[in-house]
Amino acid sequence: MNNNSIFKKSLIGNGPEIYAVTSGKGGVGKTSLSVNLSILASQLNKKVLLVDADIHLGNVDLLLGIQPKYTIADVLSDKVELKDIIEKGPANLDILPAASAVDNLLASEDKALNKIRNSFSQIEKEYDMIFIDTAAGIHNTVMSFVLGADKIILVVTPDPSSIADGYGMIKIIKNNKIEAPVIMISNSVESDESGWSLFKKMNLMVQRFLSSEIVWGGSLLKDEEYASAVRKRSPLAIDSPQSSSISHMKVILRHILELKTDSLTNKNSNLFDRFMQNRHFEIGA
Ligand SMILES: Nc1ncnc2c1ncn2[C@@H]1O[C@H](COP(=O)(O)OP(=O)(O)OP(=O)(O)O)[C@@H](O)[C@H]1O
Ligand SMILES: [Mg+2]
Repeated sequence: MNNNSIFKKSLIGNGPEIYAVTSGKGGVGKTSLSVNLSILASQLNKKVLLVDADIHLGNVDLLLGIQPKYTIADVLSDKVELKDIIEKGPANLDILPAASAVDNLLASEDKALNKIRNSFSQIEKEYDMIFIDTAAGIHNTVMSFVLGADKIILVVTPDPSSIADGYGMIKIIKNNKIEAPVIMISNSVESDESGWSLFKKMNLMVQRFLSSEIVWGGSLLKDEEYASAVRKRSPLAIDSPQSSSISHMKVILRHILELKTDSLTNKNSNLFDRFMQNRHFEIGA
Protein backbone atom coordinates (compact mmCIF):
# COMPACT_ATOMS: atom_id res chain seq x y z
CA MET A 1 0.00 0.00 0.00
CA ASN A 2 1.18 3.51 -0.68
CA ASN A 3 0.82 5.29 2.64
CA ASN A 4 3.08 8.12 1.66
CA SER A 5 0.67 10.56 0.08
CA ILE A 6 -1.85 10.05 2.87
CA PHE A 7 0.82 10.78 5.45
CA LYS A 8 1.78 14.05 3.74
CA LYS A 9 -1.86 15.03 3.46
CA SER A 10 -2.31 14.46 7.20
CA LEU A 11 0.76 16.46 8.11
CA ILE A 12 -0.49 19.50 6.26
CA GLY A 13 -3.80 18.97 8.00
CA ASN A 14 -6.21 18.90 5.09
CA GLY A 15 -7.51 15.33 5.30
CA PRO A 16 -11.13 14.76 6.26
CA GLU A 17 -12.02 14.83 9.93
CA ILE A 18 -13.82 11.64 10.92
CA TYR A 19 -16.67 11.57 13.41
CA ALA A 20 -18.22 8.34 14.71
CA VAL A 21 -21.75 8.77 16.07
CA THR A 22 -22.39 6.07 18.63
CA SER A 23 -24.30 5.25 21.81
CA GLY A 24 -24.02 1.89 23.50
CA LYS A 25 -27.80 1.50 23.73
CA GLY A 26 -29.90 1.42 20.56
CA GLY A 27 -32.76 3.69 19.54
CA VAL A 28 -31.42 6.83 21.24
CA GLY A 29 -31.20 9.07 18.16
CA LYS A 30 -27.83 8.35 16.46
CA THR A 31 -29.15 8.13 12.93
CA SER A 32 -31.38 11.19 13.10
CA LEU A 33 -28.51 13.17 14.64
CA SER A 34 -25.98 11.97 12.01
CA VAL A 35 -28.33 12.79 9.15
CA ASN A 36 -29.19 16.29 10.38
CA LEU A 37 -25.61 17.18 11.39
CA SER A 38 -24.33 16.02 7.98
CA ILE A 39 -26.90 18.15 6.17
CA LEU A 40 -26.15 21.21 8.34
CA ALA A 41 -22.41 20.78 7.73
CA SER A 42 -23.03 20.46 3.97
CA GLN A 43 -25.01 23.67 4.12
CA LEU A 44 -21.86 25.33 5.51
CA ASN A 45 -20.22 24.39 2.19
CA LYS A 46 -18.26 21.53 3.70
CA LYS A 47 -17.94 18.47 1.50
CA VAL A 48 -19.47 15.78 3.68
CA LEU A 49 -19.73 11.99 3.44
CA LEU A 50 -22.25 10.22 5.65
CA VAL A 51 -21.40 6.54 6.10
CA ASP A 52 -24.21 4.26 7.21
CA ALA A 53 -22.23 1.69 9.16
CA ASP A 54 -25.20 -0.07 10.71
CA ILE A 55 -24.78 -3.39 9.00
CA HIS A 56 -27.78 -5.05 10.59
CA LEU A 57 -30.49 -2.53 9.89
CA GLY A 58 -28.91 0.35 8.08
CA ASN A 59 -31.31 3.24 8.23
CA VAL A 60 -29.75 6.39 6.86
CA ASP A 61 -31.21 5.53 3.46
CA LEU A 62 -34.58 4.87 5.08
CA LEU A 63 -34.47 8.20 6.88
CA LEU A 64 -33.75 10.01 3.64
CA GLY A 65 -36.06 7.88 1.49
CA ILE A 66 -33.12 6.72 -0.67
CA GLN A 67 -33.01 3.24 -2.19
CA PRO A 68 -29.35 2.34 -2.75
CA LYS A 69 -28.59 0.39 -5.91
CA TYR A 70 -25.33 -1.21 -4.71
CA THR A 71 -23.47 -2.11 -1.51
CA ILE A 72 -19.87 -2.83 -0.51
CA ALA A 73 -20.54 -6.46 -1.48
CA ASP A 74 -20.83 -5.31 -5.11
CA VAL A 75 -17.49 -3.51 -4.79
CA LEU A 76 -15.86 -6.68 -3.52
CA SER A 77 -17.25 -8.73 -6.36
CA ASP A 78 -15.76 -6.19 -8.80
CA LYS A 79 -19.18 -5.17 -10.08
CA VAL A 80 -18.67 -1.50 -9.27
CA GLU A 81 -16.12 0.90 -7.74
CA LEU A 82 -16.58 2.27 -4.23
CA LYS A 83 -17.24 5.73 -5.65
CA ASP A 84 -20.13 4.27 -7.70
CA ILE A 85 -22.08 3.17 -4.64
CA ILE A 86 -22.17 6.67 -3.16
CA GLU A 87 -25.67 8.15 -3.24
CA LYS A 88 -26.56 11.84 -3.39
CA GLY A 89 -28.46 13.28 -0.44
CA PRO A 90 -29.86 16.75 0.24
CA ALA A 91 -27.60 19.83 0.17
CA ASN A 92 -24.87 18.12 -1.87
CA LEU A 93 -24.36 15.54 0.89
CA ASP A 94 -22.82 12.21 -0.18
CA ILE A 95 -24.01 8.97 1.42
CA LEU A 96 -22.27 5.62 1.61
CA PRO A 97 -25.18 3.24 2.17
CA ALA A 98 -25.18 0.45 4.74
CA ALA A 99 -23.47 -2.69 3.58
CA SER A 100 -24.61 -5.99 4.94
CA ALA A 101 -21.19 -7.35 3.96
CA VAL A 102 -19.16 -5.29 6.41
CA ASP A 103 -18.82 -8.04 9.03
CA ASN A 104 -17.56 -10.48 6.39
CA LEU A 105 -15.38 -7.77 5.01
CA LEU A 106 -13.58 -7.30 8.30
CA ALA A 107 -12.74 -10.99 8.38
CA SER A 108 -11.90 -11.38 4.71
CA GLU A 109 -8.65 -11.96 2.90
CA ASP A 110 -5.90 -9.50 2.08
CA LYS A 111 -6.86 -9.12 -1.56
CA ALA A 112 -10.36 -7.92 -0.77
CA LEU A 113 -9.10 -5.65 1.98
CA ASN A 114 -6.50 -4.09 -0.26
CA LYS A 115 -9.16 -3.35 -2.83
CA ILE A 116 -11.39 -1.58 -0.36
CA ARG A 117 -8.46 0.20 1.26
CA ASN A 118 -7.29 1.59 -2.07
CA SER A 119 -10.82 2.69 -2.95
CA PHE A 120 -11.11 4.48 0.38
CA SER A 121 -7.84 6.30 -0.13
CA GLN A 122 -9.18 7.57 -3.45
CA ILE A 123 -12.52 8.82 -2.18
CA GLU A 124 -11.58 10.21 1.23
CA LYS A 125 -9.47 13.00 -0.28
CA GLU A 126 -12.63 14.55 -1.66
CA TYR A 127 -14.15 15.19 1.76
CA ASP A 128 -13.76 17.71 4.57
CA MET A 129 -15.85 15.71 7.03
CA ILE A 130 -16.95 12.09 7.30
CA PHE A 131 -19.79 11.17 9.67
CA ILE A 132 -20.14 7.49 10.52
CA ASP A 133 -23.52 6.43 11.86
CA THR A 134 -22.74 3.26 13.80
CA ALA A 135 -24.99 0.45 14.97
CA ALA A 136 -25.81 0.16 18.67
CA GLY A 137 -23.70 -1.99 20.98
CA ILE A 138 -20.04 -2.77 21.35
CA HIS A 139 -19.44 -5.53 18.83
CA ASN A 140 -16.33 -5.64 16.64
CA THR A 141 -17.52 -3.63 13.68
CA VAL A 142 -18.98 -0.82 15.78
CA MET A 143 -15.82 -0.55 17.85
CA SER A 144 -13.60 -0.55 14.74
CA PHE A 145 -15.36 2.58 13.58
CA VAL A 146 -15.54 4.22 17.00
CA LEU A 147 -11.89 3.64 17.90
CA GLY A 148 -10.64 4.83 14.48
CA ALA A 149 -12.44 8.20 14.53
CA ASP A 150 -10.97 11.66 15.21
CA LYS A 151 -13.94 12.65 17.37
CA ILE A 152 -16.44 10.31 18.99
CA ILE A 153 -19.97 11.65 19.31
CA LEU A 154 -21.81 9.77 22.05
CA VAL A 155 -25.61 10.05 22.22
CA VAL A 156 -27.14 9.49 25.66
CA THR A 157 -30.76 9.85 26.81
CA PRO A 158 -31.95 10.11 30.45
CA ASP A 159 -33.03 6.45 30.34
CA PRO A 160 -30.90 4.60 32.98
CA SER A 161 -29.95 1.87 30.50
CA SER A 162 -28.74 4.49 28.01
CA ILE A 163 -26.59 6.08 30.76
CA ALA A 164 -25.18 2.67 31.78
CA ASP A 165 -24.44 1.62 28.17
CA GLY A 166 -23.02 5.05 27.32
CA TYR A 167 -20.68 4.77 30.29
CA GLY A 168 -19.72 1.25 29.14
CA MET A 169 -18.79 2.65 25.74
CA ILE A 170 -16.65 5.41 27.30
CA LYS A 171 -14.91 2.81 29.47
CA ILE A 172 -13.89 0.75 26.42
CA ILE A 173 -12.66 3.87 24.62
CA LYS A 174 -10.54 4.92 27.61
CA ASN A 175 -9.29 1.36 28.28
CA ASN A 176 -8.01 1.27 24.70
CA LYS A 177 -6.07 4.50 25.35
CA ILE A 178 -7.86 6.23 22.51
CA GLU A 179 -7.06 9.95 22.50
CA ALA A 180 -10.01 11.03 20.35
CA PRO A 181 -12.34 13.16 22.48
CA VAL A 182 -15.73 11.77 23.45
CA ILE A 183 -18.32 14.47 22.84
CA MET A 184 -21.56 13.73 24.69
CA ILE A 185 -24.98 14.79 23.37
CA SER A 186 -27.86 14.65 25.84
CA ASN A 187 -30.85 13.65 23.70
CA SER A 188 -34.59 13.64 24.38
CA VAL A 189 -34.20 15.73 27.53
CA GLU A 190 -36.94 17.93 29.03
CA SER A 191 -34.83 21.11 29.16
CA ASP A 192 -31.36 22.47 28.44
CA GLU A 193 -30.66 22.34 32.17
CA SER A 194 -31.53 18.66 32.44
CA GLY A 195 -29.31 17.95 29.40
CA TRP A 196 -26.43 19.72 31.10
CA SER A 197 -26.94 17.84 34.39
CA LEU A 198 -27.06 14.51 32.52
CA PHE A 199 -23.65 15.40 31.06
CA LYS A 200 -22.28 16.48 34.45
CA LYS A 201 -23.43 13.21 36.00
CA MET A 202 -21.71 11.18 33.28
CA ASN A 203 -18.54 13.26 33.38
CA LEU A 204 -18.36 12.86 37.17
CA MET A 205 -18.41 9.06 36.77
CA VAL A 206 -15.73 9.28 34.07
CA GLN A 207 -13.54 11.50 36.25
CA ARG A 208 -13.99 9.38 39.37
CA PHE A 209 -13.75 5.86 37.95
CA LEU A 210 -11.77 6.29 34.72
CA SER A 211 -9.60 9.30 35.68
CA SER A 212 -10.53 10.93 32.40
CA GLU A 213 -12.90 13.53 30.92
CA ILE A 214 -15.59 13.79 28.29
CA VAL A 215 -16.57 16.91 26.36
CA TRP A 216 -19.93 18.72 26.35
CA GLY A 217 -21.61 18.62 22.93
CA GLY A 218 -25.06 20.01 23.76
CA SER A 219 -28.69 19.03 24.33
CA LEU A 220 -31.52 18.03 22.07
CA LEU A 221 -34.93 18.39 23.65
CA LYS A 222 -37.66 15.80 23.36
CA ASP A 223 -39.50 17.04 20.28
CA GLU A 224 -42.56 15.51 18.62
CA GLU A 225 -41.82 17.36 15.36
CA TYR A 226 -38.37 15.71 15.26
CA ALA A 227 -39.95 12.29 15.67
CA SER A 228 -42.54 12.91 12.96
CA ALA A 229 -39.83 14.15 10.54
CA VAL A 230 -38.16 10.76 10.99
CA ARG A 231 -41.45 8.99 10.26
CA LYS A 232 -41.94 11.10 7.12
CA ARG A 233 -38.36 10.33 6.00
CA SER A 234 -37.75 14.00 5.58
CA PRO A 235 -34.99 15.48 7.77
CA LEU A 236 -35.84 18.49 9.92
CA ALA A 237 -32.71 20.32 8.68
CA ILE A 238 -34.44 20.50 5.27
CA ASP A 239 -38.12 20.65 6.23
CA SER A 240 -37.98 22.87 9.26
CA PRO A 241 -34.64 24.68 9.39
CA GLN A 242 -36.02 27.31 11.80
CA SER A 243 -37.18 24.76 14.39
CA SER A 244 -35.83 24.72 17.92
CA SER A 245 -34.30 21.27 17.40
CA ILE A 246 -32.28 22.54 14.45
CA SER A 247 -31.08 25.56 16.47
CA HIS A 248 -29.91 23.11 19.12
CA MET A 249 -28.28 20.98 16.42
CA LYS A 250 -26.38 24.01 15.09
CA VAL A 251 -24.93 24.60 18.55
CA ILE A 252 -23.87 20.94 18.67
CA LEU A 253 -22.24 21.20 15.23
CA ARG A 254 -20.34 24.30 16.31
CA HIS A 255 -19.06 22.53 19.43
CA ILE A 256 -17.91 19.58 17.31
CA LEU A 257 -16.20 21.74 14.67
CA GLU A 258 -14.50 24.07 17.14
CA LEU A 259 -13.08 21.32 19.33
CA LYS A 260 -9.35 21.10 18.71
CA THR A 261 -7.67 17.69 18.69
CA ASP A 262 -3.96 17.14 18.64
CA SER A 263 -3.74 13.41 18.06
CA LEU A 264 -1.95 13.04 14.74
CA THR A 265 -0.97 9.49 15.66
CA ASN A 266 -4.11 8.03 14.19
CA LYS A 267 -3.83 10.03 11.00
CA ASN A 268 -0.80 8.27 9.59
CA SER A 269 -2.88 5.73 7.74
CA ASN A 270 -5.92 5.91 5.56
CA LEU A 271 -9.50 5.73 6.72
CA PHE A 272 -9.94 2.03 6.16
CA ASP A 273 -6.65 1.09 7.83
CA ARG A 274 -7.64 3.09 10.86
CA PHE A 275 -10.77 1.01 11.25
CA MET A 276 -8.97 -2.24 10.60
CA GLN A 277 -6.39 -1.50 13.30
CA ASN A 278 -9.10 -1.64 15.91
CA ARG A 279 -10.62 -4.97 15.10
CA HIS A 280 -9.14 -6.50 18.25
CA PHE A 281 -10.03 -4.08 21.00
CA GLU A 282 -9.80 -4.45 24.77
CA ILE A 283 -13.05 -4.52 26.74
CA GLY A 284 -11.01 -4.08 29.94
CA ALA A 285 -11.83 -4.87 33.54
N1 LIG B 1 -35.01 14.54 20.45
C1 LIG B 1 -35.94 13.66 20.06
N2 LIG B 1 -37.25 13.90 20.26
C2 LIG B 1 -38.20 13.01 19.88
N3 LIG B 1 -37.94 11.84 19.28
C3 LIG B 1 -36.64 11.53 19.05
C4 LIG B 1 -35.58 12.41 19.42
N4 LIG B 1 -34.41 11.84 19.05
C5 LIG B 1 -34.73 10.66 18.48
N5 LIG B 1 -36.06 10.47 18.47
C6 LIG B 1 -36.79 9.30 17.95
O1 LIG B 1 -36.20 8.12 18.44
C7 LIG B 1 -36.28 7.09 17.47
C8 LIG B 1 -34.92 6.49 17.26
O2 LIG B 1 -34.09 7.43 16.58
P1 LIG B 1 -32.89 6.98 15.66
O3 LIG B 1 -33.32 5.99 14.65
O4 LIG B 1 -32.20 8.21 15.19
O5 LIG B 1 -32.02 6.23 16.78
P2 LIG B 1 -30.77 5.28 16.60
O6 LIG B 1 -29.93 5.48 17.81
O7 LIG B 1 -30.12 5.51 15.28
O8 LIG B 1 -31.43 3.84 16.62
P3 LIG B 1 -30.72 2.44 16.25
O9 LIG B 1 -29.84 2.10 17.43
O10 LIG B 1 -31.87 1.51 16.09
O11 LIG B 1 -29.94 2.66 15.00
C9 LIG B 1 -36.85 7.72 16.19
O12 LIG B 1 -38.20 7.41 16.09
C10 LIG B 1 -36.65 9.21 16.43
O13 LIG B 1 -37.65 9.97 15.83
MG1 LIG C 1 -29.62 4.16 13.72
